[in-house]
Amino acid sequence: MKSIKIGLLGLGNVGYGTFSVLKRNQEEIKRRAGRGIEVVAVAVRDVARAEALVAGGCKVVNDPYQIVNDPEIDIVVELIGGYDLSKTLVMQAIANGKHVVTANKALLAVHGNEIFAAAQDKGVMVAFEAAVAGGIPIIKALREGLTANRIEWIAGIINGTTNFILSEMRDKGLDFATVLKQAQELGYAEADPTFDIEGVDAAHKATIMSAIAFGIPVQFDKAYVEGISNLNAVDIRYAEQLGYRIKLLGITKRATVNGVEGIELRVHPTLIPAKRLIANVEGAMNAVLVHGDAVGASLYSGRGAGAEPTASSVIADLVDITRLATADPEHRVPHLAFQPNAMTDIAILPM
Ligand code: HSE
Repeated sequence: MKSIKIGLLGLGNVGYGTFSVLKRNQEEIKRRAGRGIEVVAVAVRDVARAEALVAGGCKVVNDPYQIVNDPEIDIVVELIGGYDLSKTLVMQAIANGKHVVTANKALLAVHGNEIFAAAQDKGVMVAFEAAVAGGIPIIKALREGLTANRIEWIAGIINGTTNFILSEMRDKGLDFATVLKQAQELGYAEADPTFDIEGVDAAHKATIMSAIAFGIPVQFDKAYVEGISNLNAVDIRYAEQLGYRIKLLGITKRATVNGVEGIELRVHPTLIPAKRLIANVEGAMNAVLVHGDAVGASLYSGRGAGAEPTASSVIADLVDITRLATADPEHRVPHLAFQPNAMTDIAILPM
């Protein structure tokens, strides 16, 4: 069977990580997917830089529309971030009948309902494992491993940059600005680090998990969002002396207020007893606790940011789509797209 053809939008940290891991592990990935997965083109701003990186391994173009409109390409991988151009390109790829893989949590948290509806109409898949918690397969855990459960709550450290900042400030007594600079140099932080520091990035991810866990539309605008910018070294030290660690948590849970059933969706710094496992997740690591009625609590931990951990999740989606794309579309369970269901009348509770 001929290989599945990929077009990458963006060749930054994660894009190059995806290109490299696909190449390095190509035989293993081919065995698992049942077909080869081949990057045929990348679209970038700096063509000369990208040509040096891919070294003849694929076509390099400047115009991203050359990828989303290319009839040879089966799956478009969107790694450019932001809400505007990325949305236009993703919608165009879907309209052209292409499957989409994206690591763009901001795009999905804000425009996910529209994107998933378009994908459903067109019968294509949109997959986004890399959008939440980097290399941790939390979307697959929620959707597949825990599929038998009624999910009660999810609480997680889902922003590597802020966890790195809090850990380094506590362990090394470094100041906020110095550690943020390190996080940027290590490729953890968003292009605009305000999204990390003010809890927006974590809220994007919590919004996506909430939609999957509870079968509700994405509702980022209803989330309560508070970051770590008001914390200082003294807060961290006092928490330590009292036997706690401060972690920025993304939380989403079922709740009933005044007899009304709803969902909480919030991000804020939280005091966690220092002996708890999740309190000891340090640096850019992420960890997500999920409570399901059948399984109880389960914890997923790993690298939540960085080139190859995130590439690992992008490629997991490529393999999934490759397997499913071979199945008869009439009978394919559209489980890679978010499916609004009967619970859409359950609201996010005001905080
Ligand atoms: N800026 C994000 C973080 C990258 O620090 O977690 C991964 O989503």
